[in-house]
This record gives sequence, structure tokens and C-alpha cells, in this order.
Amino acid sequence: MKIVILAAVADNGVIGRDNGLPFRQSSDLKRFKALTMGKPVLMGRKTYLSIGKPLPGRTNIVVSRDPGFAPDGVAVARSLDAALAAAREDAQKSGAAEIVVIGGTDIFEQTMPLADRMEITHVHSQPEGDTIFPPIDATQWRAVARSDHPAGPRDDAAFSYVTYARA
Ligand SMILES: NC(=O)c1ccc[n+]([C@@H]2O[C@H](COP(=O)([O-])OP(=O)(O)OC[C@H]3O[C@@H](n4cnc5c(N)ncnc54)[C@H](OP(=O)(O)O)[C@@H]3O)[C@@H](O)[C@H]2O)c1
Repeated sequence: MKIVILAAVADNGVIGRDNGLPFRQSSDLKRFKALTMGKPVLMGRKTYLSIGKPLPGRTNIVVSRDPGFAPDGVAVARSLDAALAAAREDAQKSGAAEIVVIGGTDIFEQTMPLADRMEITHVHSQPEGDTIFPPIDATQWRAVARSDHPAGPRDDAAFSYVTYARA
């Protein structure tokens, strides 16, 4: 079962601000939907709260150590291992080929050593923020595909889609 990290990262590494996104990138929301639909998505509690509701059409697996955290419509896992086991089981049942890790930084840091691939939207801006994507170690990862795009009508900035595979 492949583990895929999916993130939108500004050129200064920022991915979040005040528990929300630091940029408006409408194009990226469409890509996010296309790359996650029908697959189990794994996220941290803070990212879940920033989205505010379960993502439809996908099994939402949220990790939290808080025993009182039990929102409707999502599977809560108390550890990363439990979350990955639940995601694998869900993908096997549904026939999904991969598990998509959708953040935030806390979860990206823990899953990066385990991931098979990263699908990163590099957003060409320098927003202020409080949440930074972990460094992409060039000895571990190589860019295998890249496409560059101008800002769409509802995007703050131009962007590049880059696929990283294990070096
Ligand atoms: N640009 C992007 O692509 C993108 C994607 C996702 C998120 N974001 C942004 O990132 C920010 C949130 O990221 P974050 O790093 O602060 O938080 P996060 O990773 O979303 O969530 C962290 C929480 O997950 C739980 N957790 C983490 N590791 C765990 C483990 N091993 N076992 C059990 N629970 C675990 C803990 O919840 P408890 O405290 O409940 O125990 C922890 O407080 C927001 O600003 C969001 O908008 C950006």
C-alpha cells in the first residue's frame, strides 16, 4: 500500500497560518479533490478542525491523543500506527491503491520517513505563517515530474506541481 504525502507549500516553506491556509489557491483545491477522492485520507486533529467537517467521498482518519475527541463522520486513531493500520484496511476494502496523508506539519514530519511519494504544489509566494513544511532532503527525495502554472483567476500566486519519489 503506497503512502502519499499531499501538500501545498509556499516558497518560504509556509503551509499554515492561524490554523488555516496562508494562501488562496482555488486551483489547488480542485487538484486536492482529484488526488484524494475515493482514497483514505489521514490527517492530524488540527488540520481536521481547520477543514471543519469530514471530506465527502473519502474515509477520513484523524489522529489525536485526546480521548474526548470523537467527531461524527470520521475515524479517530490514537496513534500514527493505528491510523495507518485503519487506512490500510480501508484501502484494501475499497480497492484504493494508496493512502493520502494531508497534513499538517506534525503529521507530515512523522510520515515523511514512511512515505513512498510526495505530491507537492509549490506556491510561488512568501506568506507569513506559523506552520512550516519539513525540509525536503535531496538525499532522500528526487523530483520526477514537474509542471509550472500561472495563477488562475482565484489564485494568489503562480504555482508548480512537483512529484517527489524516493531518491
Ligand atoms: N498547505 C497545506 O497543504 C496544509 C495541509 C494541511 C494542514 N495545513 C495547515 O497546517 C496547520 C495544522 O498543522 P499542525 O502541524 O499544527 O497540526 P496537525 O498535524 O494537523 O495536527 C496535530 C495534532 O495531531 C495529533 N497527533 C499528531 N501526532 C500524533 C500521533 N502520533 N498520535 C496521535 N495523535 C497525534 C495531535 O492531536 P491532539 O492534540 O488532539 O492529541 C496533534 O496536536 C494548519 O494551519 C493547517 O491549515 C496546511
